[in-house]
Amino acid sequence: MNLPEPPKADGYTTEIAYLPGYYRDLNPLVQTLVLNAMGVDTWRRGTPMTYLELGCGYGLSTLVHAAANPQATFVAIDILPDHIMTARALAEAAGLKNVTFIEGSFAALKDMALPKCDFIVMHGVWSWINDTNREYILRCVDACLKPGGVLSLSYNALPGCATVPPLRELMVTQFSGASGSLPERMTAALTLTDAVKSLGGGFFANNPMASRRFEDLRERPRNYLAHEYFNTDWTAFYHSDVAAAFGALDLTFVSLATVFETIDELHFSPNAFRFLSKINEPTLHETLKDFMVNRQFRVDLFVRGPIPTGNAQALCADTRFAAVAQPNDLDRFKRRTTTGEVNVAHDLSRAIVTVLSQGPTNITALAQHPLLKNWPSQKIAGTVYVLAGLGAIEAALPAECEDASRAAIRRLNGAIRQRNVGGPWTEMNASTITGGGVQTSREDQIFFLAQADGVDPVQFAARVLGESEVTISERYRHFIDVRMPIYIATGVD
Ligand SMILES: C[S@@+](CC[C@H](N)C(=O)[O-])C[C@H]1O[C@@H](n2cnc3c(N)ncnc32)[C@H](O)[C@@H]1O
Repeated sequence: MNLPEPPKADGYTTEIAYLPGYYRDLNPLVQTLVLNAMGVDTWRRGTPMTYLELGCGYGLSTLVHAAANPQATFVAIDILPDHIMTARALAEAAGLKNVTFIEGSFAALKDMALPKCDFIVMHGVWSWINDTNREYILRCVDACLKPGGVLSLSYNALPGCATVPPLRELMVTQFSGASGSLPERMTAALTLTDAVKSLGGGFFANNPMASRRFEDLRERPRNYLAHEYFNTDWTAFYHSDVAAAFGALDLTFVSLATVFETIDELHFSPNAFRFLSKINEPTLHETLKDFMVNRQFRVDLFVRGPIPTGNAQALCADTRFAAVAQPNDLDRFKRRTTTGEVNVAHDLSRAIVTVLSQGPTNITALAQHPLLKNWPSQKIAGTVYVLAGLGAIEAALPAECEDASRAAIRRLNGAIRQRNVGGPWTEMNASTITGGGVQTSREDQIFFLAQADGVDPVQFAARVLGESEVTISERYRHFIDVRMPIYIATGVD
């Protein structure tokens, strides 16, 4: 096959060619793609629906999704007043009328007038609360999730996290007894753990995963550590425990939410694949897969009641995809799995990304494109899914939503960028193409802000970041020449 010369863009191969999607697993468009690919006939993009987030933090993911789906209704709850105040201020600045932020605890869920929901989502909640709060959530899901509705739930998983409780015990014991500020107490805990490890501790010697985890976590920002490891509650679950808890409410596990993890061919050898195909009991099937990949974290998608089914290929046919990489840049998108390296630097992927670089298109139209018409449509669909799993392409908003949401998404980005002027706040901006979050550095947000306000970006950034105009002007050039085209392709402007 003859492919056209890929666009010339040297920077793509050396710079941030890959802009990680933020909150991809919480995006209803992505959840729908995964469910459709499993043959579940769920929400149709661009139609009304109700989406509830429990434990929404500053509401960033809910805000992006509300801005991107103006025809849908969003409700999000958090216990921290500061989180909810910020989320409301951003919603107001973005002019969002379809989102409500409620300040309240999970204990109070039963007293809130919550709507019947098509989606209920939680991220970073289930493993970090106690049994009583999990019970409140179960009651809320029972009361609010409609038949056919989707639950997305992330949690620390077993067996991959098996060595974390003893590691945490060691750190938390020291942390609880130490005096000083929170960061000082965390430092004391890390120092003690490091000492035990380096003095030849049998636990670390016999559990290399615990050693690796400790090496990884000690490099992480302290605020991440505070939430992830020094929280009062921390529990890892077997999938079977979670499936049983929600099974009692008539929810059935359908799929992991993370596209890459759903493609079994990439994670299991042909022998393992054959072995698994003989296991018909769904929970056991999923549990065996967790053991085979030693999974540490799961994002599960459950559907309530009888599962509305359809033909997977037909359900996926309308999904539009957008390229967020360049055809000459695909060797960056590789990932290692238990079976080896997955990479997409081949002709079919390049042809798909070449076509998608001209604008978002659905799988049916892709298959009819002159560049792709010689490939079997099954093969095209499979490769599209792998590219989406690796983040080289993303599920895109339907054309009509793109038009209806563009202004709100830009206003939301403006408000988020404004908050980053005072200090680093979030690196998430919203995409007018995917309706999801995209990593955008603070400095780039400052440049975008200056451009929108019609002020000199170099002078403005130099003032905000406290650096010389000479240094900033070099980086601004780089932003314009190298990163801007990628942001534009990704729908961030
Ligand atoms: C990991 S954060 C999730 C943030 C958000 N979903 C995101 O992706 O940015 C978990 C949130 O749950 C909230 N939370 C924890 N316990 C809660 C409770 N008992 N009631 C209500 N919210 C709670 C915390 O305040 C926190 O903001």
